[in-house]
Amino acid sequence: MQGRQQESRSELSGFGDTPTEEFRKQLHELADWIADFREHIERLRVAPNDKPGVIREQLPKRAPEEGEPFDKILTDVDNIIVPGMVHWSHPMFLGYFGWTSTAPGILGEVLTAPLNVNAMTWRTCPAATELETIVVDWLRQWVGLSEQFEGVVYDTASVGIMHALAVAREEAAPETRKLGLTGRDTPRLRIYTSDQAHSSAEKAAIALGLGEENVIRIPSDDHFRMDVNSLGQRIVEDRQNDLQPMAVVATVGTTSTASVDPVRDIGNVCREGKIWLHIDAAYGGGFAMVPEYEWVRQGWELADSIVINPHKTVFVPLDFSVLYVRDLVRLQRVFSLVPEYLRGDTVETERNYMDYGIQLGRKFRALKAWVIWRSLGRTGVVARLREQIRLANLLVEWVEKDDRFEVSAQPSMGVVCFRFIGRDPATAGGRPFSAWPVVAPYQADRSTESKFDRLNSDIVEQINASGRAYLTQTRLHGRTVMRIGLGNVLTTEEHLRKGWEIIQEVATNL
Ligand SMILES: Cc1ncc(COP(=O)(O)O)c(C=O)c1O
Repeated sequence: MQGRQQESRSELSGFGDTPTEEFRKQLHELADWIADFREHIERLRVAPNDKPGVIREQLPKRAPEEGEPFDKILTDVDNIIVPGMVHWSHPMFLGYFGWTSTAPGILGEVLTAPLNVNAMTWRTCPAATELETIVVDWLRQWVGLSEQFEGVVYDTASVGIMHALAVAREEAAPETRKLGLTGRDTPRLRIYTSDQAHSSAEKAAIALGLGEENVIRIPSDDHFRMDVNSLGQRIVEDRQNDLQPMAVVATVGTTSTASVDPVRDIGNVCREGKIWLHIDAAYGGGFAMVPEYEWVRQGWELADSIVINPHKTVFVPLDFSVLYVRDLVRLQRVFSLVPEYLRGDTVETERNYMDYGIQLGRKFRALKAWVIWRSLGRTGVVARLREQIRLANLLVEWVEKDDRFEVSAQPSMGVVCFRFIGRDPATAGGRPFSAWPVVAPYQADRSTESKFDRLNSDIVEQINASGRAYLTQTRLHGRTVMRIGLGNVLTTEEHLRKGWEIIQEVATNL
């Protein structure tokens, strides 16, 4: 980065580490690099527009024979890596679920690096283990989850759901852990989730030997929420066909529109049928901290497991995902491999996190969460989430004022989906979203549909290729729409306005 001094470096001393004084200088240099990167990030393109292979061509094919000085490595980061990146921390990055890179979060990551412990048991690092239990419980309190739930930190929600469904599988088909699923008289186990839910349910079914075809996609209603009647009917039909309902995955904050399933109704179906209820609150869970959004946690009391991704909405740097399980010992029973009385390396009365998942070695992820959550406090987190909601609603107002566009789904949390419909503003009356009773099923003729699908897609692609901003596209009710996800603390109203003006300009010139 700018202002960085080029200095010659001696090699690593002998067979050991960099001499302390040299390391100290490198760290200062790196601190400047990080601060400069953050300060000047807006000068960078949000995303590259290169053909695949451009980065590869600049890098040696063979691993280095001799060690190289750090400043040379950092120069290559500046010249090769940084220009080849999509900058998720850029304030004009408006894709996916915005990203939550913050200065305190970066400090937490930096602080974790030198400690480099393995948090697999209490004994291998008491502080890492106890801090994990503490921060997981802080989040539980913040989102208003009952004390019956305790949690574990994994890298991602996809890994969390796999562990949750492993417990559901064990309870639906006891002794699967020991005997496996094949060669026994076990019925096919079914998982139900909405047609809007994330594909991690299928990934989990693949990993757990349940089969992706046993994940049944239940239709959603006009507001992209699971249709509970269809769920109930499908469960009845499956039982009649000797299939065993194992779990339902309800979503709080779906990937396309951040819609929220009717969790309480779904939970009642699960209770009645003795079916595991997993709530995928990977995105929406954090918003339960905002008093006006407390409704998103309706029905959570009926859940068996809930996943929340603080790396999406509670400002912890990637990766940090929490799986909460009602009565955590159920998870331990499936994944603890060593009987209690044989443990040499564990303290039985303390939690050993290796017993709660397939991973043995575990990073000290709790430290970065502790740093960022102490730095922001609950009020700081809530204020930032509220700002995302405010910006999302502002964008909806702007979209509604331009007759050439329509809002495609009820805006939810920090997500706005909208579509270019290309009407001439002079002749076409707009249709503000607020006037819609529901998102109407698409009825235009196919040729028009594909033309406007392409136009929406082209707008997104042209903007992303320009490097000026970055957004994503998705499909809703068979139509391609543009999608903006807010979440980056560096994105201000001015940035969003600029992003909206770029969209209007590109649409005009198409
Ligand atoms: C609703 C939802 N659930 C789960 C996931 C998977 O998250 P992860 O990348 O942490 O596995 C995503 C990813 O965006 C998501 O949107």
